[in-house]
This record gives sequence, structure tokens and C-alpha cells, in this order.
Amino acid sequence: MRAISGRSSTGRRPSARAPALATLVIAALIIGASWVTAAPAAQASPQAPTPSEPAGSPSPGRRLAKEPPQATVAGFPAAWSDLRIDAMARAWQPLWMAPRPGELGGPTVGLPWRTLVDFYDGRLAFERVFTAAEGLGPTYNDVSCVACHSHPAVGGGGRDMGQGITVHGPPWTGGDAMGLHKRAIPGHAKKQAAGKTARLRTPPLFGLGLLDTVPESARQALEDPQDTNGDGIRGVRASRSGDGVDKPARFGQKSNDWDLRTFLAGAMVDEMGVTNTIRREPRGDADAIADPEAPRHFVLRVDAFVRNLAPPARGPITADVRAGEAVFARLNCVGCHRPQLGPVRGAYTDLLIHDMGPALDSGLKDGVATGAQWRTAPLWGLRHRARYLHDERAPSVAVALAMHQGEAAKPAAAFHALAQADRRLLLAFLGSL
Ligand code: HEC
Ligand code: HEC
Repeated sequence: MRAISGRSSTGRRPSARAPALATLVIAALIIGASWVTAAPAAQASPQAPTPSEPAGSPSPGRRLAKEPPQATVAGFPAAWSDLRIDAMARAWQPLWMAPRPGELGGPTVGLPWRTLVDFYDGRLAFERVFTAAEGLGPTYNDVSCVACHSHPAVGGGGRDMGQGITVHGPPWTGGDAMGLHKRAIPGHAKKQAAGKTARLRTPPLFGLGLLDTVPESARQALEDPQDTNGDGIRGVRASRSGDGVDKPARFGQKSNDWDLRTFLAGAMVDEMGVTNTIRREPRGDADAIADPEAPRHFVLRVDAFVRNLAPPARGPITADVRAGEAVFARLNCVGCHRPQLGPVRGAYTDLLIHDMGPALDSGLKDGVATGAQWRTAPLWGLRHRARYLHDERAPSVAVALAMHQGEAAKPAAAFHALAQADRRLLLAFLGSL
């Protein structure tokens, strides 16, 4: 929990969708009205203290939102303080400070207004801090989604592995990797690590709603388990059983869940211990709070935020970047990092799992993925990442490619054999993503 933790302590119940929205709307109206009345007052009386705005500072509304709520805002009629303007400003701030459409952490451009409202409302749900009295735990990793998914904006990844997770499990007995929780509520003990452990970074969630729309047929068309085209790449779709069905899976770095909604409902249970009816089985936990601990519509609020997060925008596309993309294609990086997948352009993934060889073998099975199988990491947003691979072990792209073995051995060898000039172009391309 860093910067944002205090924000969600406004005591919103998970079920309080309407009140949360209403607070925002009222806050917006009141703050807006305050400025309409405050500005002429300040002009009419030269004695009235004028807000000292540095040149080029943002609009008055933004300045107000940033102001510590206790500060006296010049020109405010005293009566407004009776309306608890401070508390209003606090409620308004998360929305006012939220990124705009298309920005990192903002909604996709061009959404209908209704979906926009759901997005910004869902952002509050994403930031909501749970307590033990509301079902947090009994063991858990953190208290809100944003506690881990915060970098470089709400909905992003972890700043470093400190915001990642540890999984453990008996080595290769057929059992799945299990989350190992860092924390426990009072009266409950943390699990001890059993068998092997592996670390997983917290990946950014930007654009995942688009990846959720890729039809199964598009992934299926790319599967090549027998390597019939002889390029060494044998990607397959993962699948997951639960609720009496076995369906193709695509979310998680091991592709261990069906779709975005089921995955994030599972994250609520697995990372926070907050049970709900949307995740795959099982659905209860061992604390004193009755299950399900979060109502269905709370999960749907979180889903509305994650689903509509804009994909990361590209950096400037120069001639070098274009030439670098050609090198990327020539080395057959695109054999896995597909520029186009069904209707989605620019994610640079095939959403298939690949055996990446011994260097990336965690020794832990997850769903159908073996220790060495990983879902092709989407490369959009790469320029916002400081380190690479599922446990951030690689400080540079070159090191990440030294770990590309198994099915990726040929393209990775070709990368290491590149002439200096071509390598520079390829890195320029990757740096534009
Ligand atoms: C303790 C840190 C932590 C918390 C809290 C957390 N996550 Fe995550 N999240 C992770 C990690 C680590 C992964 C990668 C898991 C994997 O690869 O299997 C992940 C993966 C995801 C993914 C899938 C990403 C992908 O590329 O397929 C989604 C979606 C997601 N989280 C949403 C959420 C939501 C919504 C919440 C709150 C209900 C949440 N997470 C809470 C750490 C966290
Ligand atoms: C056989 C499929 C495959 C091929 C071919 C392949 N990759 Fe990857 N790539 C992956 C997988 C899977 C991962 C994720 C591995 C992990 O997280 O441990 C990955 C991760 C990466 C990452 C790190 C992304 C991140 O989010 O940390 C970069 C950068 C990358 N690949 C670049 C390339 C380049 C450049 C090429 C061509 C030289 C290439 N890859 C070829 C499958 C492939």
C-alpha cells in the first residue's frame, strides 16, 4: 500500500454504488457552484485575497482538488464550509485527478458516457480498501487491487517485485502452484512454503479488455502443437476446468483462467481473501464473515474499470522504429508476439503458451501450463517497464532474450547474431511500444 491507500478509507460499503456516484456528482456540483459564486466576489472587492496562481497552473477546479482540504480557499463564502466542503473536495479528488480517455490508466477513447461513468466508478471499487470485518483474509497478500496494480498509474503493474506475489507447490506431483500469502488477519496463521516457490510480477492491466474480445477461433488458428511449419514454435491454448466445464483459458501469465471477469473475481479471493460468486470454484473461506463477502455487483464494478482501461499508446513512430519493426518480423519474433490478433492490433501477443526452455522453468505447474510454459507477454506498454519477464529477472531486453530458449531459441539466437545497426533499430522499435 503506497500513495493511494488513504483514499479509499471513506467507508464506502462494497454495495454502495449509488451513494458513491451520488457523492461524486454532488461534490462536482457544489465545487463548481462555489467557483461560480467565489470568482465574481473576488473581483468585486479589491481587498479580497486573490488566489495566488503560478503562471500556467491548471484550472481553479484542479487547484482546489489538489489543495489540502483544511486550507482556506480564498473567496469562498463562509457558508460553504457548513456544507463540509472539505469532505466534498476529498470525494471529488479521485475523479478529478483520474487520467483522461486514452491516457495511461484512463478509459479507452470513444466510450459512451454511461460506460465512462461505470469506468470511473469502477476505479473507486478498484481502490477500495477491505478490512477483516468486511471479509479480508483470513490470509491474504494485500487489501485492495491498487495496492499491487498501481504503476505507473492506477490499473498498472507493480512498481517492483515487492508488489508481486509468491506461489509454491510440491514439485511436479501434478498439483497446481498455490499462492503463498504474506499476511493474515488476527487469530489466523500464515501458510508455510511447501515445495518449490516461484515469484510472479504484478503485470499491468492496460488493454486487457481488448484481449478479452479476441475470439477463440483467432487463437486456435495460430496453434501449432506439432510444429507443422517447422519454425520451432508450437504454441497452444491453455485450458482450465472448473464448475464442471473445461474451457480455453487466456488470463494470467500462465493462462490459467478463462476470461477477464473470472480472473479478476479470482484475484479478489486469491490476493485479498474477499469471496464472491463470480470466481471459479471453490467459493467460501475460513474467516468469520459469511460468504460471499463481496456482492456480485461489486465485482462487476471492478470489471467495468479493468475492462475499459485504454491500451498503452505508442511512442513516436520514427523511420528507425519502422525499420526496427521489419527486423522484428524478419527474426520471427512475430511467430509469438503477433502484431495483429483477431480484431486487436498492437498487443504483440498470440495469447498462447509456449515452452520457453530451462532458464524460465519455474518447476511449478499451473492449470495445464508446465513450469517452462508461459503465455507470450504482450509487448504493448514495454517502454513503461523497468525490468522484464514474469519475475522481472531481466534488467534489459538483451537479458530477456538470453532467457528466450525452448520454442523461442531460433529468433533469440538471431537477435544475438544481429549486426549492431540492426540491433539498434530493433531496440528503437521495442522502445516505441
Ligand atoms: C498482492 C498483489 C495483487 C493484488 C492485491 C491483486 N493483484 Fe492482480 N495480479 C497480481 C499478480 C502477481 C498477477 C499475475 C498472476 C499470474 O501471472 O498468474 C496479477 C494478474 C492480474 C490479472 C491478469 C493479467 C493478465 O495479463 O492476464 C488481472 C486481470 C488482475 N490481476 C486484476 C486484479 C484485480 C481486479 C484485483 C483486485 C480485485 C487484483 N488484481 C489484485 C497481483 C495482485
Ligand atoms: C516462442 C514464442 C516467443 C518468441 C519467438 C519470442 N518471444 Fe518474447 N516472449 C515470449 C514469452 C512466453 C515471454 C514471457 C516470458 C516470461 O514472462 O518469463 C516473452 C517475453 C518477451 C519480452 C519481455 C516482455 C515483458 O513484459 O517483460 C520481450 C522484450 C520479448 N519477449 C521480446 C522478444 C523479441 C525481440 C523476440 C524476437 C527476437 C521474441 N521476444 C521472440 C515468447 C516468445
